[in-house]
Amino acid sequence: MSAAAGTRRLRVAVVGATGAVGQDLRRLLEVRDFPCDEVVFAASARSAGKVLPFRGQQVVVRDLDEADVFDGVDLALFSAGGGASREHAPRAVAAGAVVVDNSSAWRMDPEVPLVVTEVNADALELLRTAGKGIVANPNCTTMVAMLPLKALHDAFGLVGFTATSFQAAGGAGQKGIDELEAQVGPMFARRELLRSDGKAAMNLVDPPKVHADVLAFNVVPVLGTLDDHGYTDEEYKLQNESRKILSLPDLAVAPTCVRVPVMVGHALQVRAVCTDPMRSLADVIASLDHFPGLVVEQAPTPLEWAGRDGVAVGRLRLDLTDPHALNLWVTGDNLLKGAALNTVQIAEELARRELV
Ligand SMILES: NC(=O)c1ccc[n+]([C@@H]2O[C@H](COP(=O)([O-])OP(=O)(O)OC[C@H]3O[C@@H](n4cnc5c(N)ncnc54)[C@H](OP(=O)(O)O)[C@@H]3O)[C@@H](O)[C@H]2O)c1
Repeated sequence: MSAAAGTRRLRVAVVGATGAVGQDLRRLLEVRDFPCDEVVFAASARSAGKVLPFRGQQVVVRDLDEADVFDGVDLALFSAGGGASREHAPRAVAAGAVVVDNSSAWRMDPEVPLVVTEVNADALELLRTAGKGIVANPNCTTMVAMLPLKALHDAFGLVGFTATSFQAAGGAGQKGIDELEAQVGPMFARRELLRSDGKAAMNLVDPPKVHADVLAFNVVPVLGTLDDHGYTDEEYKLQNESRKILSLPDLAVAPTCVRVPVMVGHALQVRAVCTDPMRSLADVIASLDHFPGLVVEQAPTPLEWAGRDGVAVGRLRLDLTDPHALNLWVTGDNLLKGAALNTVQIAEELARRELV
């Protein structure tokens, strides 16, 4: 869906406009013909004064700290990290804007809807009666998993899932992509070490600052900050956000988050457990096939789906031992459905429902 015809024209701020998600937000507002008359692009003082194109105009990036940056703004799309959201989203709301936020800052706040548009868009109705004027966009890994899991829940009643993610470098933003890119050349130049002495190959590059270990030609099984139980914050996001989005507070989630040397595109291997038995693969495919935004394929890969709007599910297998369980593989672009696309889809829903 693109912007609803007949909605009023809005003044839209993109906060974090120079970042990996911000770049896609700007492009999607343009190509989906979102009904905005005017845009404000904001970022940190580092980028203030840069010029970015939008619908044939040249828009000067503003410093988010400027006092009047949200004046007259109806809708503010934030993708500037949790700290900036916590500090500046309330400012935008106070100036009269509705905020859609990409960071984790507001996601678990009971007064903030956490929305995947194909799954729980009705949660936006909270804004009519209560709420903080903020809508949260889920974590990019959770987002990708939600489409098939909601489809399975509607058909068979989901009780839990075990998931291992395969998350792209770009999930950590432009700096995550840059760190992987910088490692590839020097390590490939000495590629004999990749099989004879991997540790020496890893020592060819700068110590990693973004990913938990050297990512090029590798797989890194820690993603996020570990707690005393040995789980990372990224793994808790997968559990807690899934429960909130699906309105299943007791959903049993066993998450493992892994970083892989893919530029853009997250994937997950999921074992979903349901109350009703899944008697045939045909029944399973029928439940997934017509779910909006979801495409069923044999074995979709993140690279193949990078730059595409849809989420692809494949490797569908009835469990070998439990008729209530299904094994599946799902992939989607973390910067598109995982971030910018869902943000713009939320903005479109807000406009369609006259909530902005
Ligand atoms: N990457 C993903 O796959 C993904 C998916 C879902 C959600 N998200 C979330 O989206 C947000 C942005 O992620 P990203 O990947 O686009 O990161 P990014 O590439 O590092 O971009 C960050 C953006 O935020 C701006 N910024 C940073 N600190 C700021 C501050 N204190 N005040 C104002 N602007 C500030 C940066 O401006 P400068 O250019 O001036 O530094 C830049 O425009 C994060 O909260 C992230 O968790 C990311």
